[in-house]
Amino acid sequence: MPNRNTNTALSLFDDSLPQQQEFLADVLEGLAQPRKTLPCKYFYDERGSQLFEAICETPEYYITRTELGILTQNMEHIANLVGPGCDILEFGSGAGIKIRLLLDGLHDPRSYIPIDISREILESSARTLLEQFPQVQVIPIVGDYHKDIQLPAAFRAQSAHRKLVFFPGSTISNFTPEEAEAFLQRIRALLCEGDGLLIGVDCIKPTHILNAAYNDLAGFTAAFNLNLLQRVEDSFNTNLKTKHFFHHAYFNEAESRIEMHLVSKLDQLIEIEGRHFKFRKGETIHTENSYKYSLEGFGALAQRTGFEISAVWQDPEKLFSLQYLSAR
Ligand code: AVJ
Repeated sequence: MPNRNTNTALSLFDDSLPQQQEFLADVLEGLAQPRKTLPCKYFYDERGSQLFEAICETPEYYITRTELGILTQNMEHIANLVGPGCDILEFGSGAGIKIRLLLDGLHDPRSYIPIDISREILESSARTLLEQFPQVQVIPIVGDYHKDIQLPAAFRAQSAHRKLVFFPGSTISNFTPEEAEAFLQRIRALLCEGDGLLIGVDCIKPTHILNAAYNDLAGFTAAFNLNLLQRVEDSFNTNLKTKHFFHHAYFNEAESRIEMHLVSKLDQLIEIEGRHFKFRKGETIHTENSYKYSLEGFGALAQRTGFEISAVWQDPEKLFSLQYLSAR
């Protein structure tokens, strides 16, 4: 029997602003700071998303493969906690490999709403899902989940169906602990009592393992970081040269976070759309934080935001955790 949805047009909601304009505003604002920064959400253009997928396959970057292992190993338990007929919302769905496992393993999931900033990736992965899971309603939304997004009816507050928010990959790591708390509060507000949040949280571990994961020998992380500048170079009227910067990432133990930076190789004056930014040799643009949590630390965060931790699964080496939080 042919798949019912194969010929159905994919309806895609686009909640993104004129993207280049917002990108420029954020670049100008970030570079005007005394400590220069660029928002990490702009890593994920088409090339950046491909580079991220390449990072996920490096031997040093344990996160993706460890989380996939945990997800596969504990699927029955997860399916039983979630229950039948749920509506799933995923923030930052990317290529959508993990959701396939989840849609396969859960009991008759009803709908799946992926939200991602990268339209291309979202569209292609949603098409694949439509074919593979014809019985699941797939409603992709192009948008920035840092902002309020208008959600489809299946996911508005009152619903007879169990809602599940899926936030894998330790994407929560990009938020400061304060932002993470606010974000969990926002998720909690979408849920009713008893609904769930299945979230991947990366763990504190020896510094050399962390530093290696963000400095892979093949150079994909460096390319991923530098691609952010390439995007600036390609998008705007500028004398910026990506080759005048290099990648630097290290674990800041006091803050419990990996910091990614782009380091200027020389003293330079960079002009972007008529604005000027002075760089000293060795000065950096801080492009990303990736916070690492203890189970206790994250548990306290969950408690404070109206969740109860129903289950925590880890790999044998305790590199990573997948956690099921129930809305209290
Ligand atoms: C997607 C935020 C989880 O912090 O490990 C990977 C992004 N940056 N390598 C991470 C990332 C550099 C990743 N997260």
